[in-house]
Amino acid sequence: MSRVEIVNRTRESFLTRKKVQKIVDFVLKEEGKDFPGCLSIAAVDEEEIRSLKKRFFHQDACTDVISFFYGFSDEDDIWGEIIICPAVVKQEAHVRGESEERALSIVLIHGLLHLLGYEDEDAEKARAMEERQEALYRLLEEEEEREKLIKRAIKVREYAYAPYSSFPVGAALLGYDGDIFTGCNVENASLGLTICAERVAIFKAISQGVREFKRIAIIADPSSYCFPCGACRQVLYEFAPQLEVIAAKSDRDYEIVSLHSLLPRAFFLRNDDRKE
Ligand code: THU
Repeated sequence: MSRVEIVNRTRESFLTRKKVQKIVDFVLKEEGKDFPGCLSIAAVDEEEIRSLKKRFFHQDACTDVISFFYGFSDEDDIWGEIIICPAVVKQEAHVRGESEERALSIVLIHGLLHLLGYEDEDAEKARAMEERQEALYRLLEEEEEREKLIKRAIKVREYAYAPYSSFPVGAALLGYDGDIFTGCNVENASLGLTICAERVAIFKAISQGVREFKRIAIIADPSSYCFPCGACRQVLYEFAPQLEVIAAKSDRDYEIVSLHSLLPRAFFLRNDDRKE
């Protein structure tokens, strides 16, 4: 994992340290690269980036990002440097009607891809690079969405009522409109009346008028992955046969499977009811 040093020499806001580290780790992981040593990231104003562009690229122009790759030898070395001008990035974002956070993230990904050998001197290479940075950003958003869902499952697990099994479970179900419905298991002295976390979550959603779901995160004992029981698979399937199921040990350690793979040939009453 690369160490990242960040300095903001402007009055503009930049991405948080956490976000920058997340983007760097994510891009290196997805690109299959792991550099020891340090990556330096600086936010600079228009004047500074213009003078760097002039000095190193002989162009008298303001730009959004410049990258320098130095290579690496040991852990104390700086292997690369990315210089970003937030003012320019934000102006471009406003023109495109895009959020500043998204634009700053994409520019950072662009700078990182240059360090990893991507080039954009001709139109074809530029298009390939743009496609890759957009794809990486989408994947990053998905990963962040999963981590957020798992955190909600961890939180709701605290409310589990599990005096008989001592096996608290938390589930967080994401609706297509972005709403999150959480549930914990609720046990009963008459053991068969126990209801699982997943069904609590989905019944909450249905009873609030939401019936379309994207993914569900489940966490129980953090030493193993907990997949939904057979009954919950069938109930989830009724509404979301394409559901993504995340079985988590933590927000950093999880497995992703499709509900369909957990319940192939699910029960349905009539052929017309088949939802696959
Ligand atoms: N349980 C869940 O809440 N979800 C699952 O996916 C598996 C099992 C609960 C039911 C019971 O309260 C406890 O875990 C032990 O079976």
